[in-house]
Amino acid sequence: MQKELIIIGIESSCDDTAVSIIKGRKVLSNIIFHQNIHKKYGGVVPELASRLHEKKLPLATKKAIFLSKIDQNQIDGVSVTFGPGLIGPLLVGSSFAKSFSMGLGVPLLSANHIQSHIFTHFIENANINNNSYPKFPFLSLVISGGHTLIIEVNHFFHMKILGSTLDDSVGNVFDQIARILGIHYPGGPMIDFFSKYGNKNKFHFSKPLVNGLNFSFSGLKSQIRKFIENNIKNDPFFIKKHIHDICASMQKIISEILLEKVYQAILQTNIFRVSLSGGVSANHEIQNTFLSFFKKKTKKWELFLPKIEYATDNAAMIGISGIFKYERKMFESLDTSPFSKLKKF
Ligand code: KG4
Ligand code: ZN
Repeated sequence: MQKELIIIGIESSCDDTAVSIIKGRKVLSNIIFHQNIHKKYGGVVPELASRLHEKKLPLATKKAIFLSKIDQNQIDGVSVTFGPGLIGPLLVGSSFAKSFSMGLGVPLLSANHIQSHIFTHFIENANINNNSYPKFPFLSLVISGGHTLIIEVNHFFHMKILGSTLDDSVGNVFDQIARILGIHYPGGPMIDFFSKYGNKNKFHFSKPLVNGLNFSFSGLKSQIRKFIENNIKNDPFFIKKHIHDICASMQKIISEILLEKVYQAILQTNIFRVSLSGGVSANHEIQNTFLSFFKKKTKKWELFLPKIEYATDNAAMIGISGIFKYERKMFESLDTSPFSKLKKF
């Protein structure tokens, strides 16, 4: 029997310092240090993030190796996020990974952060509603703090972007509206929490008109912001009284926009298999909207939703990307530099 590969995944593209050990398709350990310092600034401060990655990466690595119960010398390759993301944090993570791979004498593997979000569905037991892996081809909706993308996934490293946001990401809408509501960064999880006690049909927001498979969220963001500001003028306690309904109503419109576009992509491509990835895909209303839509369809319509620990940034997804790259001998040269923007795959 062929030996299962053991890969260490390292993620530092934004404000989470994460290290994971993957064996085959299984997660042996998955360490995340969230950088809470950014809460008081209302968003991620890149230099502070870089400094904290530099401080925490060795510790996260030690912990991940210890909890995985492997010996450091069993590691076959070092997989690290090369981009997209914040360039300072990426430089810290990639430099650390390069040195670590040189020290161990094993190959370096570069992970694309967006592709890695998609690969979470290939981690054993990473899906909520289905433990098997999505078969190719499938469509992937990647919704995170930085991206809103519909991607046609034809094979592991054959992906095509079908649609993206023309302005703000959907995660940005959650985080910015949360700020107005007085919720700390990142706002998505708290908006999700407040919405559980709210009426999603209480307030109505209109959908942006965008042709094709692209999205636009800046108009919706201003619409919700103005709605809150106008209501505060009449009632200074408007937020306090209606926070649950605002959160629920906002999630409803966002879920509908996302589902409409994905449905359009399905009809356009004739691909009926869909996966959701990225931090925002942890959202309950979005998950339920997609689940109830797919439930009404025939068996060929398949939906893959990630468990929360694999929806938001993590290093297990970077590790599994490394496994796929190692299997194809897609090793990275030590003089490659990280990149901040996603151009194409
Ligand atoms: O994928 P991710 O962890 O990092 C990026 O690659 O950007 O996504 C972070 C984003 C943030 O905007 C955060 O507010 C949002 O995901 N988020 C959520 C939820 N959990 C995280 N948004 C809505 N509902 C959630 N439950
Ligand atoms: Zn991410």
